[in-house]
Amino acid sequence: MRWLGVLRSSAFWILLVAATVSVWSKQEPSAPGQPEGRTYVGTEACAACHEDLPVGLQRSVHALLEKGTRWNSEGQACEACHGPGSEHVEGGGDPEKIFSFPRATREAQNEACSKCHGLTQAQLGRRSSLHGLSELPCTNCHSVHAAKSFSSLKQSPTATCLKCHDQAKADFRRPFHHKVLEGGMTCADCHQPHGGQDPRQHLRAGGTTNACFRCHTDKQGPFAFEHAPLRLGDCTSCHVPHGSINPKMLVRARVQSLCLECHSASTPGIPGAQPPAFHDIRSPRFQNCTTCHVKIHGSNVSPIFFQ
Ligand code: HEC
Ligand code: HEC
Ligand code: HEC
Ligand code: HEC
Ligand code: HEC
Ligand code: HEC
Ligand code: HEC
Ligand code: HEC
Ligand code: HEC
Ligand code: HEC
Repeated sequence: MRWLGVLRSSAFWILLVAATVSVWSKQEPSAPGQPEGRTYVGTEACAACHEDLPVGLQRSVHALLEKGTRWNSEGQACEACHGPGSEHVEGGGDPEKIFSFPRATREAQNEACSKCHGLTQAQLGRRSSLHGLSELPCTNCHSVHAAKSFSSLKQSPTATCLKCHDQAKADFRRPFHHKVLEGGMTCADCHQPHGGQDPRQHLRAGGTTNACFRCHTDKQGPFAFEHAPLRLGDCTSCHVPHGSINPKMLVRARVQSLCLECHSASTPGIPGAQPPAFHDIRSPRFQNCTTCHVKIHGSNVSPIFFQ
């Protein structure tokens, strides 16, 4: 019982967290995967031969490592990532005797970054997403020494993704599309680049609709009369998010084909109501369903989405 009290007390948790944090922030005697016996020599020693790199580092966020404000790495920023450098220096710059990212395995590279970024989305995504399961190295997208964009990206955010996803590039060239290639938004406006829990794992905050509501807030409701497919939470039952041949980015070229997929006697498995008999879908008047059913995403006044 007393232990239960201790566990419940917030002071206990604060102490536990503090203890854990202090363990994390201690500089390891040897970086993971590094041979024993190497010691830290400090950034100034590296600068003797690698003159430009410390200057470049000063302009990046990782300059914080040199100050040691977040990690116990004051004066040792280079070695915080490359591991202790004594043998490399003594060897006159022997490239075999320092942790080198391009030479390391994908796992070892990701470990080296995750030592500090271990509790971020980047790391959590690694355990569940296709990017993570494929062990894409952080350095495929990020560069420490030659960043070209925010978040230390190697290229512009969209180019970062298109490098591997050719199909997406083709999608965004369809006649009606989100303005990604034009620079109006980025892939990361809808996808979490590091992955997450969703089926298409990369969408933000748990599901398609949430990814879309960030910008299309008017579709969020709640509405007194909701159109069921939206309530079920998926914009992609009607829209192709990248791009489509329909001006409203619908999954079908014509609106009526989309509606009749659910609202027709020939689709018994799907619980959409049948249009009343006066709907003569051969007549042009009835073909563009949304000329009458205007508020197709939901309405506060009309159960059949007229206004
Ligand atoms: C005595 C000069 C010297 C010092 C001091 C020195 N280096 Fe080097 N370093 C070199 C040379 C030479 C190379 C090989 C360059 C090449 O092959 O293109 C090298 C290569 C490297 C590489 C790339 C290895 C590879 O081939 O991928 C890294 C990383 C590196 N050094 C980091 C450091 C760090 C960190 C420090 C400070 C702890 C440091 N160096 C200090 C001379 C030095
Ligand atoms: C935050 C981690 C990190 C820090 C800090 C860091 N490096 Fe690197 N370094 C890398 C990565 C990752 C690469 C692989 C190339 C790339 O992605 O930019 C690399 C590549 C290198 C290379 C070989 C390629 C090249 O650009 O010539 C050298 C040499 C090097 N680093 C030296 C240094 C020195 C010296 C410092 C300190 C001034 C330093 N690094 C600080 C992560 C780091
Ligand atoms: C597929 C490309 C890709 C890979 C692989 C990747 N990142 Fe990122 N990362 C990005 C992009 C794109 C952003 C910018 C996100 C945005 O605009 O919201 C970013 C942002 C970040 C940020 C800053 C914002 C944040 O989310 O905290 C950190 C830190 C980060 N990445 C660390 C990592 C680490 C560590 C790894 C490896 C375990 C990694 N990334 C792997 C693409 C990638
Ligand atoms: C020794 C600790 C440490 C290591 C190792 C480390 N980082 Fe960082 N990283 C930091 C700190 C500190 C920041 C500054 C922001 C913060 O406090 O979270 C940062 C920020 C970032 C950001 C955000 C950049 C921005 O512009 O917002 C990215 C991306 C990132 N790191 C990628 C990497 C990658 C990739 C590696 C491996 C090559 C790596 N980091 C290794 C400590 C580290
Ligand atoms: C280095 C190559 C590479 C880069 C860069 C890359 N990806 Fe991927 N991506 C992959 C691989 C490999 C998969 C695993 C599935 C596959 O084989 O298509 C994947 C899967 C995905 C998926 C899930 C697909 C599905 O079927 O569930 C999405 C979404 C995605 N990536 C988005 C992005 C975004 C957004 C970026 C830019 C931040 C990006 N990718 C950058 C290689 C890459
Ligand atoms: C407007 C939001 C949005 C933007 C911007 C966006 N995506 Fe997507 N993406 C989605 C949605 C939603 C899905 C899921 C589609 C489905 O399940 O039918 C998806 C699916 C994917 C897939 C899985 C395969 C597929 O086509 O279904 C990949 C890979 C992908 N996106 C990559 C990218 C890349 C790369 C970019 C940037 C060039 C990007 N996406 C920009 C919303 C977006
Ligand atoms: C970052 C903001 C943003 C996000 C996130 C976003 N959109 Fe958009 N969307 C826009 C903008 C801006 C336009 C309008 C113009 C354009 O780009 O042509 C648009 C246009 C559209 C259109 C066509 C409207 C028209 O009248 O042409 C549809 C349909 C659409 N979005 C659906 C979605 C869906 C579905 C999602 C989620 C997968 C989504 N959007 C996510 C910003 C966003
Ligand atoms: C039942 C099918 C269906 C679903 C589900 C659906 N839409 Fe639509 N949406 C349409 C149709 C049909 C149009 C075209 C309306 C028209 O022709 O005026 C449209 C048009 C749009 C437009 C452009 C015109 C406008 O009203 O602003 C946006 C933006 C949009 N949808 C976003 C979304 C988002 C975001 C979601 C998910 C929350 C979503 N849609 C879910 C059928 C749907
Ligand atoms: C993904 C399947 C799906 C698509 C596509 C779809 N609907 Fe629906 N719709 C439903 C379901 C399910 C209901 C709820 C039916 C019920 O409650 O009996 C519904 C309800 C309705 C209602 C209200 C009927 C009532 O009795 O409550 C109207 C009107 C309607 N839809 C019109 C349309 C139009 C117009 C389109 C094309 C723009 C469309 N729907 C596309 C599934 C769909
Ligand atoms: C000229 C205007 C108009 C057009 C165009 C139109 N509808 Fe309707 N629709 C109506 C009216 C009016 C009602 C309400 C009838 C009632 O209250 O009995 C209705 C009702 C419905 C219902 C609800 C049936 C129920 O039992 O609640 C569905 C489903 C529907 N329409 C689907 C469609 C589809 C699919 C299309 C396109 C092929 C379409 N409508 C085109 C006027 C229209």
